[in-house]
Amino acid sequence: MKKRVGIEALAVAVPSRYVDIEDLARARGVDPAKFTSGLGAKEMAVTDPGEDTVALAATAAARLLKQQDVDPSRIGMLVVGTETGIDHSKPVASHVQGLLKLPRTMRTYDTQHACYGGTAGLMAAVEWIASGAGAGKVAVVVCSDIARYGLNTAGEPTQGGGAVALLVSEQPDLLAMDVGLNGVCTMDVYDFWRPVGRREALVDGHYSINCYLEALSGAYRGWREKAVAAGLVRWSGTMPGEQLARIAYHVPFCKMARKAHAQLRLCDLEDAVGPGPGTPEARDEVAKSQASYDTQVASSLGLNARIGNVYTASLYLALAGLLQREGAQLAGQRIGLLSYGSGCMAEFYSGTVGEKAAERMARADLASVLAKRERVSIEEYERLMKLASDAPEPVAPAPGAFRLTEIREHKRVYAEGTP
Ligand code: HMG
Repeated sequence: MKKRVGIEALAVAVPSRYVDIEDLARARGVDPAKFTSGLGAKEMAVTDPGEDTVALAATAAARLLKQQDVDPSRIGMLVVGTETGIDHSKPVASHVQGLLKLPRTMRTYDTQHACYGGTAGLMAAVEWIASGAGAGKVAVVVCSDIARYGLNTAGEPTQGGGAVALLVSEQPDLLAMDVGLNGVCTMDVYDFWRPVGRREALVDGHYSINCYLEALSGAYRGWREKAVAAGLVRWSGTMPGEQLARIAYHVPFCKMARKAHAQLRLCDLEDAVGPGPGTPEARDEVAKSQASYDTQVASSLGLNARIGNVYTASLYLALAGLLQREGAQLAGQRIGLLSYGSGCMAEFYSGTVGEKAAERMARADLASVLAKRERVSIEEYERLMKLASDAPEPVAPAPGAFRLTEIREHKRVYAEGTP
C-alpha cells in the first residue's frame, strides 16, 4: 500500500501590530472601498525590525512543537521557505535549529522561489517521506516572510508579514496529499522581484496578475490531466474543478483568489467537450459564478484578509483559515491548493482533509494568536516602516515569541520571551 503522507499539524505566528486597512486608505486619500471591496482587505500586519524572518519562523516553529506536542528527536528535516532572506549564505533554517535547540541530526536548508518557496520546501519534505528516505522521521517546513512595497505605492495595501510552520509526516491529520498528481507551470518573467540589497519589492502589478493567471492555467491543467487519469475527478456531470470541495489559492490580496477561481473555472469551460456556454462572453459569466466562489473559496480567506500578503505563507494561511472554520465538515473530502511564486512558478495539488483536522486546528488556537495583536495608527506604522532593518528597538519579546535584539559584528542575536 502507498504511504499516506501530508500535513499533520500547523502553527501560525503574526507580527505584534497591525493597521486597519480603512485607516490606511483614508491616510492615502483613497476611497476605503477600493481597499476593502476592490482588494478584499480588512487589516494589514506591520512588522518592526525586531520581527524579522528568523524571529517569525522561530516563533511559528516553537509554537508548532509546543502546541502539537512534537518530540524534537522525531524531526529529520527542517526547511524554511522564504524570499525575505537575511544572509546570502547562512540559512534562516540554521537559526531556527539553534534557537529551538533542535537535534543536530537533521537536514536544514532554505528554499527560495518568491511565494512558491514554501511549497518547494513542502514538496521536498513530502517526497522525502513518501520515498522512504525519511526512514520514519518527520519534517518541519516553515514559510516565513515580510511583504514590503513601501509607503505610498500601489502595492502598499497588499503588504503583510508572518509565518506558518507545517509538520509533515505519515500521519496527515490535516491534509493527506495526492502525491505525484501535482501540476506545474514555470515561465521566466519579471512580474515581481526584489534585487539583492533592497528591502522593498519591485512589481509590475497588473502584469503580475496576468502572470499568476497564466501560470495557474498551466498548473491546473497539468493536475487535472493526472487527476482524471487516476479517477479522482471526471469529465462528466459537474466540471472537474467543481468536484473539489474547496480550493485554497495563493492570496497576495483576497480579491486575487476570486480572479484565480474564475480562471480555473474558465480552464474547465474551455476544455470541456460537448455542449456548454458557447460564446466567450457566456463562458466568462459562468466562470465568475458568485455561488461557486462562495462555496469553494470564500471560507478560506478569513486570516488573509486580516494579515495581508505573507508571500510564501499566504497559501498556508488560506489552508489554516479554511480548516479553522470548516475542518470538521470537510473531513474526508478532497480539496485543491494553488501555489504561485512570481518569476514565476505555479503548482496545483490536491489532498484529503483528515478526520482530526478540527482537533488539530483547535490546538493551533488561531483566534488568540490574532487577538494578541495591537492596532496601530498610520503615523506609528510609517515610523516603524522607516526604522533601519539592522537597528531593532529594545522591546521585550512576548512570551513564547522570538525577537532580533541586535546585530553584533555582522551576527544576528535573538532573544526569546519568557512567560
Ligand atoms: P491598483 O492599480 O492601485 O488598483 O493596484 P486597481 O486600480 O487595479 O484597483 C484594484 C481593484 O479595486 C480593482 O478591482 C478596481 O476595480 C477596484 P478589479 O477590477 O481588479 O476586480 N476598485 C474599487 N472597488 C470599489 N470601490 C472603489 C474602487 N476603486 C478601484 N472606489 C495592485 C492593485 C494589485 C496591482 C497593487 O496593489 C499591486 O501592485 N500589488 C502587488 C502585486 C500583487 O499583489 N500581485 C498579485 C499577483 S503576483 C503574486 O501573487 C506574487 C506575489 O505574492 C509575490 C511573490 O510571488 O513573491 C505578489
